[in-house]
Amino acid sequence: MDKMDGKTMDIVAENVSKLKELFPEAFTEGKVDFNVLKAVLRSFVDEHNERYSFTWNGKSKARMIAQTPSTGTLRPCKEESVDWDTTSNIFIEGDNLEVLKLLQKSYHKKVKMIYIDPPYNTGKDFVYKDNYQDNIKNYKEVTGQVDSKGRNLSSNPETSGRYHTDWLNMMYPRLKLGRSLLKDDGVIFISIGKEEIHNLTSIMNEIFGEECHKNIIVIRRGIKNVQAQFETIDSFNRGHEYLLFYSKSANYRFGKCSVPYEGDDEYHKEGSWNNHWRGTDRPTMRYELFGIKPPTGQWRWGEKRSTKAKENWIKICDELGEEIPQSQIDKWVADKERKKNCKIDLLRLSSTGKPEHYIRPSLGKLASDFWSDIKPNGGSQLKSCMGGAYFDTPKSVDLLARLIDFMCQENDTVLDYFAGSATTAHAVMQVNAKDGGKRKSIMVQLPEACDEKSEACKAGYQTIAELGKERIRRAAAKIKEENPGTAGGG
Ligand SMILES: C[S@@+](CC[C@H](N)C(=O)[O-])C[C@H]1O[C@@H](n2cnc3c(N)ncnc32)[C@H](O)[C@@H]1O
Repeated sequence: MDKMDGKTMDIVAENVSKLKELFPEAFTEGKVDFNVLKAVLRSFVDEHNERYSFTWNGKSKARMIAQTPSTGTLRPCKEESVDWDTTSNIFIEGDNLEVLKLLQKSYHKKVKMIYIDPPYNTGKDFVYKDNYQDNIKNYKEVTGQVDSKGRNLSSNPETSGRYHTDWLNMMYPRLKLGRSLLKDDGVIFISIGKEEIHNLTSIMNEIFGEECHKNIIVIRRGIKNVQAQFETIDSFNRGHEYLLFYSKSANYRFGKCSVPYEGDDEYHKEGSWNNHWRGTDRPTMRYELFGIKPPTGQWRWGEKRSTKAKENWIKICDELGEEIPQSQIDKWVADKERKKNCKIDLLRLSSTGKPEHYIRPSLGKLASDFWSDIKPNGGSQLKSCMGGAYFDTPKSVDLLARLIDFMCQENDTVLDYFAGSATTAHAVMQVNAKDGGKRKSIMVQLPEACDEKSEACKAGYQTIAELGKERIRRAAAKIKEENPGTAGGG
């Protein structure tokens, strides 16, 4: 395959070689001498029998599975691709466990951002044992689509005794393998519901480290009002879900991110006034202003700019009077700037007699961990791209676009290994089109069959993977058409 080495990497051997590099004295004839390793690590060795830990049935095996090399290979499908030689989007059809192993060689420490939206373990969306012989048959069996003889069944009930255990065993190796693809300044975001948020946080703290846990972001979800038909209810309707955010390195810092103001934030939209004097010492900027010449420090602007700004303030007072509410000042400035197509400065004396200059209302506020402004509109966005409601749980392109915009530079790689309808790839192309970036996306999706009765199946999509691939083709074409000359589509 021209684009990546489709062979697997021996993860255990790689790790042992790293250990050997760090602690050569702990190796005798190629084997680890744990007594020496313990002696080297001294105070970091925990000798207590009881300790704080999170475990479940199958954890050791899950750990081992992450380290077992894959037996598969990746096969390119040029005939299905658009612009094979130049495209920056890769779609891989297969079980993500196998694919993640195969990606280790070519993408080790190359991915800037992973976004995943795994099954939430609601009792209907999940899950299968990791048996590499026949993952599709296996997947169908365990998701309850068919029994061992291939007969159709209803889904895996929530009462299954292995409910959380199965989910943890599925997620653990996939998170571990995901981590080693991340760059040192890489980040991961995981969408999840209330069913597994606690377990997911526990295994993420173990795999990534608690110090790399950045936020649990609250995301709006569409409220299903099914309880309205009953006299009494057993709990409140759920209007939110979570986005778990971890960085690969504990000391990771990122640029300030802003989000638009919303209803209650209205008052923040007002402009403000700032002291025009500052302490830096430039004698040429110490001229007389409102009859004041500072003995030290300097005025913020040169004399010409300050004089013009003073005149602008006089104009406002002539037009609107002396006691002008801030909102009217903001409107006056915005109107003038729009008409004259240039910036307007204002300078006046404060109530305490000090020169102060005008600061425009800011367009956004610093993002918090409460993202109520993003609408749960993934369904309608998918429909407008594909022409039908072909997938039940697509995420909003706006959510993914925000993550990419906040976290990724223009040449970064974004990976989603529970790709579904490929919202992440769509968002990568959209952000590229907006800012001229050349970010790359890698999608991994199991060729899970679409339900026979589903709109997707009726429209000719046999699998979710087929749907995801077609969405990328269509979104790319649309973005290209709307933004000729950008790197968005393709
Ligand atoms: C909740 S959906 C993701 C939806 C996606 N975020 C979107 O916006 O369309 C989870 C997807 O993961 C896929 N999946 C589950 N197990 C998988 C596996 N082992 N390998 C690859 N994909 C898997 C499912 O088929 C499903 O399409």
